[in-house]
Amino acid sequence: MTRPDIPLAGVIGNPIGHSRSPLMHKHWLRRYDLRGDYVPLHVAEGDLERVVRTLPRMGFVGANVTLPHKTAVLQIADHQSDRATLIGAANTLTFRDDGSIFADNTDGYGFMSNVRQGAPNWDPKSGPALVLGAGGAARAIIVALADAGVPQILLANRTRAKAEALKADFGQRIRIVDWVQVGSVVEDAAIVINTTSLGMTGQPALRIPLDGLQSGTVVTDIVYSPLQTPLLQMAVAMGCVTVDGLGMLLHQGVPGFERWFGKRPEVDDALRAAVLA
Ligand code: ATR
Repeated sequence: MTRPDIPLAGVIGNPIGHSRSPLMHKHWLRRYDLRGDYVPLHVAEGDLERVVRTLPRMGFVGANVTLPHKTAVLQIADHQSDRATLIGAANTLTFRDDGSIFADNTDGYGFMSNVRQGAPNWDPKSGPALVLGAGGAARAIIVALADAGVPQILLANRTRAKAEALKADFGQRIRIVDWVQVGSVVEDAAIVINTTSLGMTGQPALRIPLDGLQSGTVVTDIVYSPLQTPLLQMAVAMGCVTVDGLGMLLHQGVPGFERWFGKRPEVDDALRAAVLA
């Protein structure tokens, strides 16, 4: 397959109107003066395979994938990265010159890059991570934490069975903590990570007792609307190092943009402003 004159990429989801990915990729295309475009693609479940197979013939070099398609798209791809297989979901497709489709999952990479940028003194090997929630985001984050050498993952989820399923998949490094007893382990954590939707605009706040937290502990949230969630506000008041969730979204887009448009883009304040506009 020949490369198109104007390479296109997009984000596939349902719904998709709220996605900030087009703002991000269009900012990078402008900033680096690259030919290309990036569009939202509203795709119903039953149409996913047909759309994904058609995109390369329409000049698309790749696509991001968001809810509800992140698991189903793995069945459509011809090849997948080890981390996509392990997580059981993909968020980044690359349409290769030979016509094949490669699926990757960059959510864990986005998470780690965001925390490394926002809390440069955090050493993953320095102590346990407390992960709140056991959904799709938690899966990607746990894989990335284990890869980075975090010695232990304390995992708490409202529905304990889902935490147990994660432990069965990802092994011994996980210790399950009862959701209502999470306060008793916060003092052991070198980093606290909210992967639930609690704290998002319109959702209840995440209320966990943080009084045991050491000042200097890193607290991060994958929620980015609002940027300063109630959890992060509490953590600031305790003297913790906080990292908001917007950067995870921004960093997860980096590998795709680089593969599709040939330039490794920066995640900086100008990008944050463009995405929040
Ligand atoms: P994602 O793919 O974004 O991680 P998800 O798979 O729907 O989304 O997972 C949402 C997470 O938020 C789950 O851990 C969920 O807990 P349950 O497994 O018990 O459902 C958690 N969550 C959502 N609302 C919650 C609430 N009100 N209290 C506690 N946890 C909540």
